[in-house]
Amino acid sequence: MHIDVVSIFPEYLAPLRMSLLGKAMTDGIIDFATHDLRDFTHDRHRTVDAPPYGGGAGMVMKPEPWGEALDHLRGAGDGSRPTLLVPTPAGHRFSQAMARDLARREWLIFACGRYEGIDQRVIDDAAGWAEVIPFSLGDYVLNGGEVASMAVIEAVGRLIPGVVGNPESLVEESHSDGLLEYPSYTKPRVWRDREVPEILLSGDHAKIAAWRAEQSRRRTAVTRPDLLHSSQVLAPDDLAEGS
Ligand code: ADE
Repeated sequence: MHIDVVSIFPEYLAPLRMSLLGKAMTDGIIDFATHDLRDFTHDRHRTVDAPPYGGGAGMVMKPEPWGEALDHLRGAGDGSRPTLLVPTPAGHRFSQAMARDLARREWLIFACGRYEGIDQRVIDDAAGWAEVIPFSLGDYVLNGGEVASMAVIEAVGRLIPGVVGNPESLVEESHSDGLLEYPSYTKPRVWRDREVPEILLSGDHAKIAAWRAEQSRRRTAVTRPDLLHSSQVLAPDDLAEGS
């Protein structure tokens, strides 16, 4: 997969080159490149923003550098249609389902806005040659799109075959089946007088699976009832402390 990120702070993305994703980049599974938006300006101050037409607070990112930066990426491509991801609090809420969909694509471009966002004409223009997806990480406002893009790149990157060593670990994690993951335990068996639940030591795989499924359902009911279907109603004992 090719991933391009355009930002006025390309160095912000550096931590993505660490750990599992970094290895996937070295191994050639992910071809990752960052691009400085200011390299596509032509004035002495490398200006990327201007006050909004119509008035109001803040600054808007000017269309010209964005147009040039995106044309540059497009020209360097192989003619295939990329997906242009635009982080914005006004976008579609990002989810594991979206991560799964994006992980199957060949070429993702992230356009990281700052200030009050990017001139809308850039987005409208790009829709002529890319699939444009404005996305939001959640219902809160960040200072720019870099952190949101990093979160999406990590969530998507780990789903690409070969990136996570043991693909089984992707099957049972939170959101893989629409529920939150069950609690996990490891050695020692007793720690600060707290014991690992007996059933996990039983060796009875069917019982362990049933216990974990029930723990997932309860945890979801308590912490994220919005994820449950109406058939999985919240029982009063789900809300009891330590249940
Ligand atoms: N940029 C600023 N806030 C954001 C958010 N919540 N999600 C994605 N991009 C953003």
